[in-house]
Amino acid sequence: MRAVVFRDGAVVVAERPRPVPQGGELLVHVAAAGLNGADSLQRQGRYPPPPGADPDVPGLEIAGTVADTGPGATRFGAGDRVMGLLGGGGQAEWACLHERVAIPVPEGVAWAAAGGFPETFITAHDALCTQAQLRPGERLLVHGAAGGVGTAAVQIAALAGARVTATVRREASRALVAELGASVIGPDDDWVGLGPFDVVLELVGGPNLEPDLRALAPGGRIVVIGIGAGAGATLNLGQLMARRAVVRGSTLRARSLEEKALAARGVERELLPALAAGRLRVPVEGEWPLDEAAAAYRRFEAGGKVGKVVLRPDPDVPAAAEPRP
Ligand SMILES: NC(=O)c1ccc[n+]([C@@H]2O[C@H](COP(=O)([O-])OP(=O)(O)OC[C@H]3O[C@@H](n4cnc5c(N)ncnc54)[C@H](OP(=O)(O)O)[C@@H]3O)[C@@H](O)[C@H]2O)c1
Repeated sequence: MRAVVFRDGAVVVAERPRPVPQGGELLVHVAAAGLNGADSLQRQGRYPPPPGADPDVPGLEIAGTVADTGPGATRFGAGDRVMGLLGGGGQAEWACLHERVAIPVPEGVAWAAAGGFPETFITAHDALCTQAQLRPGERLLVHGAAGGVGTAAVQIAALAGARVTATVRREASRALVAELGASVIGPDDDWVGLGPFDVVLELVGGPNLEPDLRALAPGGRIVVIGIGAGAGATLNLGQLMARRAVVRGSTLRARSLEEKALAARGVERELLPALAAGRLRVPVEGEWPLDEAAAAYRRFEAGGKVGKVVLRPDPDVPAAAEPRP
């Protein structure tokens, strides 16, 4: 099969053996595979795949059709449309997905949207609903809201009845993010003055942490998910105490199968009906055939996009036109 591999930092497409589904796994004919920041870091040699993940082929999320099942896999059968999380190996024509982290793709959801859903929506749902315990009526601030996780977070929070403010760097992207349910400002605007916020979802990183804390309401929660702008931060412990604040951080990729399955079930239960009904959508910046993976990585890494960059390894499945938000 053809698969994306990295050679000295270059993105190339190479022949690899088709994987064989092991216990509990589904062999998936991959129709769409989303790109994520972790793939770029892996390309640069800065994020080795976790133990057990494909050491060579990147790709944390896929959507496609089940072709075969491994021993003991009973949740899905051949022909079912599924999407789900991987530790790596998704950017290929075929991938093995454990059935416990697989989610059915609702009818009417386009492949590109499904391929860009799992990693970002599970990350955003876990951060907001499980870790920060965001409640209806609370105020949320999302930093770096135009990307995959940000556009998911804005919609999930709005659906949950929270009031969302979002920072978006690129001016031309702000109206699109606003349509998803946020009041949108620039990262240099006075967002501390717009507080207090009950929850801050930090997707940009260290330099924001000190003002995040100043913008927080008593009992507020900050969840750090992305550190693209830097990992170092200054924290005023007096303000932390005075606000009875919680600062949390998390990663999804390195979690155990059990933990990922729990997060996937939460999304299946709480978000899938809204995705099926069109009340949640996956903004897709663009989709590229597998052979043009290098161009897809260039687009992803150039920034200034709204939502997801998606690879389409299976050219036989038509690329459904995805409405822009
Ligand atoms: N912890 C986890 O489990 C987990 C899971 C998924 C993703 N992540 C991380 O979370 C972050 C967001 O993920 P994503 O999928 O949404 O990535 P993405 O699609 O690349 O979006 C990142 C967004 O952040 C903005 N941004 C980046 N650096 C910025 C800066 N210095 N100042 C202001 N805005 C900035 C970008 O704006 P521009 O387009 O203008 O650059 C973009 O809108 C990434 O760092 C990713 O690696 C973590």
